[in-house]
Amino acid sequence: MPVLGRIAQRFAEERPLDGVRVAVCLHVTAETANLMHCLAAGGAQVALCAANPLSTQDDVAAALAQELEVHARFGEDLDTYARHVGALVRGRPQVTIDDGADLLTVMHAAEATEGAIGGTEETTTGLLRLRKLESEGGLRCPVLAVNESRTERTFNDRYGTGQSALDGIVRATNLLLAGHTLVLLGYGYAGKGIAQRARGAGAAVIVCEVDPTRALEARMEGYEVMPSLDAADRGDLFVTVTGSQSVLRREHFERMKDGAVLANAGHFDVEIDLEGLRAAAGGAPREVLPLVEQYEVDGRHLNLLAGGRVVNLAAGEGHPAAVMDMSFATQALATEHLVRHAGELAARVLDVPHGIDDEVARLKLAALGVEIDALTSEQQEYLDSWG
Ligand code: ADE
Repeated sequence: MPVLGRIAQRFAEERPLDGVRVAVCLHVTAETANLMHCLAAGGAQVALCAANPLSTQDDVAAALAQELEVHARFGEDLDTYARHVGALVRGRPQVTIDDGADLLTVMHAAEATEGAIGGTEETTTGLLRLRKLESEGGLRCPVLAVNESRTERTFNDRYGTGQSALDGIVRATNLLLAGHTLVLLGYGYAGKGIAQRARGAGAAVIVCEVDPTRALEARMEGYEVMPSLDAADRGDLFVTVTGSQSVLRREHFERMKDGAVLANAGHFDVEIDLEGLRAAAGGAPREVLPLVEQYEVDGRHLNLLAGGRVVNLAAGEGHPAAVMDMSFATQALATEHLVRHAGELAARVLDVPHGIDDEVARLKLAALGVEIDALTSEQQEYLDSWG
């Protein structure tokens, strides 16, 4: 993670986070460990808990716990998960880094936001929750929408989720994508990445989308576009990535082919309606492989991956380090921005300043050994003349 490494070097010299209590609720992975080291190099007092009970890499958690405060264990139950988030809140964080907004939401619910400088958010789902809080007048500190920064949208969602969701599915099933039909529910940034890679691997892709512009874009990209009920008996593999709930439900399960595989790449495990699946099956599933539960619906077998949890992290290792390098570099610089501007920013969900995107992209290009042009002074003058 060379970009984060360069920032960590600067942080170690400048100590921009000296003494600041930074609480981090992210997937506990090797990439997250590098972010924790970077923040600590900047002088922060860091504490970490998991953003999902099924994504914690226990070896990473154990190694980090030698150096800093960590509350995470793979497979922890929901009470333990809540206790771990609560432990971070009790530390009275000044800056929060969230993936899904659990930490900042609990801080608000516990009225523990006094002294909070601000937070950052890594996911679309988390931003939905925080914007709702803001619209109700309840947000008590600024939040930088790291999820919507240009580097994050382009690289994290498209390339990171695009590749790692398919990687998790293939690891869990050893399914051959070529010659199979993938039904993709949700054609946002992550969905686009999944569709592109699945097509590249030889799958036929059908897109189901409620947003007309996105649906049109999918059609223009050459994918079949149709309502999900029409796609239900066409798919060999179904992937949800909408941020919504019950995208696949009983009426879909009742039409699916024998052997269909169901995976969710969205943040929460609500996109595949598990109650509806259990009701359609009329009984408990059979574990046919680790992370593959088979439900029998009218004599047909439907294979649910990772209990409907986010498949790239639950069945794989999440986004590759080369992508998380940029996301977490943005997180580190966003944290620095919050601290440098403590007390100056409105208690709203705010864009990450463009300068941060540019710095991350510049550092990444340098790490890749790629040089680019700069505008000539004539070009700059010409562009400026338009005001
Ligand atoms: N989110 C997606 N992939 C991740 C990773 N490898 N580490 C931390 N958070 C992630």
